[in-house]
Amino acid sequence: VLTLDDFDLKGMTVFLRVDMNCPIDPDTMEISGTKRIEEAIETLQSLKEAKVVVASHQGRVGNNDYTGMDKHAKVLEKLMNREIKYVEDTIGEAAQNAIKNLEDGDILLLDNLRLCAEENYEFTPENAAKTIMVSRLSKFFDLCVLDSFPSAHRSHPSIVGFPQVIPACAGRIVEREVRNLDEIMTVAKAPHVIVLGGSKVPDRLEAIRLLIQNGRADHVLLTGLIANVFMRAQARIKSPLGIKREDEVVAKAHALIGEYPDVFATPVDIAIDKDGARVEMDVREIAKTDKIYDLGPKTVEYYSKLIAGAGTVFISGPAGFFEKENFSFGTKALLDSVANSMATTIVSGGHLTSVLKRLGLAEKINHVSTAGGALVLYLTGEKLPMIKALEEAAKKYRSK
Ligand code: 3PG
Repeated sequence: VLTLDDFDLKGMTVFLRVDMNCPIDPDTMEISGTKRIEEAIETLQSLKEAKVVVASHQGRVGNNDYTGMDKHAKVLEKLMNREIKYVEDTIGEAAQNAIKNLEDGDILLLDNLRLCAEENYEFTPENAAKTIMVSRLSKFFDLCVLDSFPSAHRSHPSIVGFPQVIPACAGRIVEREVRNLDEIMTVAKAPHVIVLGGSKVPDRLEAIRLLIQNGRADHVLLTGLIANVFMRAQARIKSPLGIKREDEVVAKAHALIGEYPDVFATPVDIAIDKDGARVEMDVREIAKTDKIYDLGPKTVEYYSKLIAGAGTVFISGPAGFFEKENFSFGTKALLDSVANSMATTIVSGGHLTSVLKRLGLAEKINHVSTAGGALVLYLTGEKLPMIKALEEAAKKYRSK
């Protein structure tokens, strides 16, 4: 793919798609982890002689992490110690005027791209190019820089639409992720152990099937909400979990266990929250009203043995309610096992990477990435929409 080094960037007006989708504290609605904003800086520095329009999504419409980007602008301003212009608009007149008024060296952050309805849907690249977003904005830009690796699996207009109509290249994050991951995948050895947690269950289920089918998952060790879904499918948790589309996801988990009975490992013990205290128990003892917040020590021991015997380990998503000290045991202990294994190791997702850093274990891991779902899908061997868009843009624009 083309990179920033292939272009004379001076004076260009650039659309820079980043992924500043950060964890948001539901009580204060403030950003609780700024890692993805920090990561955007390297590419911004490479673009210092251009007029840069930075765009990102934050959260999903209807979820409690869906907010405007004003907070992100403030964080970026502080981190870079310079002015960041911000407009409370995405594709309308205010955004267009702000873009027109930019001077070389300026950085303008647009509001949450998902305020524009189109950015909440998947499109073919051809149709994405015809969206109102791309037709209104593309005329202002000389170049589209795609640097939102955590959303590389989304075929949204801001990702696959612009490269159809203007030259496009990879930003520094995407360049590095693809280079490192390709290198790692050529040396990756079996057995492949996947440790999966996190809350985006439907996305995860789809990826698990592909990982197994493509020979990239010999053992899938489940943690967090997805572990509860599988335990429900095994009828080891009796009462409903109260999650969206529960019957459908539990049925899918049930089908996966039936097809691949030897692949999945689920918790044998867990920890629940009892008036703020941690109470550990066997999975068989879970009562209807119990809130499962972490793995128990027997499960950590069981999973750690499988991790120790792995050739390649990929871990994504926290193992419990790690933000509460009481319930961070599983997440920390599994990261420790991964860091101390002899396998090729990949740690993925914004939450896990920040815990890893706090534990001082990042140096012991082969590849650390703030991408979650995108990285899981990348490892299945499927070509992600963003990578496809960049490869096609390279063919189209390399000679020009
Ligand atoms: C992520 O955090 O995985 C990315 O920002 C993508 O977010 P999404 O799953 O809401 O598209």
